Amino acid sequence: MKLNPYRPEDDGQPPSLFPPYASTVARSPRHAPIRIPQTLTEITGPAAPWSRLMGPAIADLTRQHAGEPIGQRIVIAGRVLDEDRRPVPDTVMEIWQCNAAGRYIHVKDQWDAPIDPNFTGAGRVITDAEGAYRFTTVRPGAYPWGNHKNAWRPSHIHLSLLGPGFATRLVTQLYFPDDPLIEIDAIANAVPPAARARMVARFDIATTQANFALGYLFDVILRGRQATPFEDHHG
Ligand SMILES: [Fe+2]
Repeated sequence: MKLNPYRPEDDGQPPSLFPPYASTVARSPRHAPIRIPQTLTEITGPAAPWSRLMGPAIADLTRQHAGEPIGQRIVIAGRVLDEDRRPVPDTVMEIWQCNAAGRYIHVKDQWDAPIDPNFTGAGRVITDAEGAYRFTTVRPGAYPWGNHKNAWRPSHIHLSLLGPGFATRLVTQLYFPDDPLIEIDAIANAVPPAARARMVARFDIATTQANFALGYLFDVILRGRQATPFEDHHG
């Protein structure tokens, strides 16, 4: 019996080739994937706590320099869950983003927006026994990119999740609910329409800290029909 081939789109995952997202044309595979059997080497990892291997968590991106960064302070909180919504503890979530003006600290990012000397834009948190995580940062700005004429990325935070082994690494982007750029963004639109809302954080007044920071909730679901859309390349 011939089984229907698995299509990532069916679970709301973006295809590797999405021509409106121009760089996928050159980098998407031209051949069928080769299955590599996973052994203990791929699916297990060090038994030591992550904080011993990677250093302590960096859960406040606004406190990495002498002064505070410019921008709207925000708290992002949520849980990492499996397909049955069970919590996934001990997952490293790496965080990277541009500053409030839309500029990354990166040699290839030279567009006309200021660097913030008080903002690096990189952090790292680890989920607790309930699968929960939380970090504080500033809301990233939109930035132009060369995908097509007048292309701007919506505000987004890049997230990489790492479980017990490197084969379990998943990368996604968090968007904000009031952003008109999402619907014209080629990267967000590579995700099938029904799944796009899973990448958008939800404003939450209970997470909002009075006189301090706006709060957003963002759960990451690792697999299954409600899985968060993940990318296998960074755009
Ligand atoms: Fe980005």
